[in-house]
Amino acid sequence: MTAQPLIAGNWKMNGSTAQAKALAGDLAARAKGAAGPLPRIALCPPAGLISTVAAAVAGSVVAVGAQDCHAKEKGAHTGDTSAVLLKDLGCTYVIVGHSERRADHGETNEAVRTKAEAALAAGLTPIICVGETEAERDAGKAADVVRSQVSGSVPAKSTAANTVIAYEPVWAIGTGRTPTPDDVKAMHAVARETYGKAHADGADLAILYGGSVKGSNAATLLAVAGVDGALVGGASLDAADFWTIIINAPKR
Ligand code: 13P
Repeated sequence: MTAQPLIAGNWKMNGSTAQAKALAGDLAARAKGAAGPLPRIALCPPAGLISTVAAAVAGSVVAVGAQDCHAKEKGAHTGDTSAVLLKDLGCTYVIVGHSERRADHGETNEAVRTKAEAALAAGLTPIICVGETEAERDAGKAADVVRSQVSGSVPAKSTAANTVIAYEPVWAIGTGRTPTPDDVKAMHAVARETYGKAHADGADLAILYGGSVKGSNAATLLAVAGVDGALVGGASLDAADFWTIIINAPKR
């Protein structure tokens, strides 16, 4: 089994109910009208828009994901959302350990791993994000950083069937800059090899690339060996551009 490609849109903290209905509805209509085989498709709106998006994509192949979850099932955690509730709201996926959360909320590998464990326990597929900063890359530490993030953030119970990793170099997020295809290939190989040291099914794991993916560079980035799809920020807010990325996903 090789990984079934996944194109996931991370809306970050963007959108209103009206925009969410229009964007998710447009995408669902494109997916319903598609002639050829499609990759897995997911939209990850802000928590407050999950129900709106779930209703708009109902009956289509478009799945819904969240951008974060708490490690606990319930309790006194003001402002947080449990993986159990996300599942109840119709989510299939949850992004954990995005670099913006690692930076803005001080999330450690350990914190990310416990969130991913909560996601698995709730029946969600965690999309676990890893990636080096520009300073780490300049210091020649990119591979070491990704090794320690993968080994520290991916649960022992993860399998290729229930988990996705996203390699997102922090310096490529929202900047319009992307690594070369050779760099992407090398970093995906590092992530896959590290995962494979603790898990039996490394060859089958879906590893996404994220960071300034757009319609115009999707064909190049998605053709790189070891890239099983994309985690898309800004371009996922434009249905036509996001659709171009979707149709450039690897065909398997
Ligand atoms: P951009 O596609 O806007 O660079 O964001 C990437 C990202 O962080 C997706 O999680």
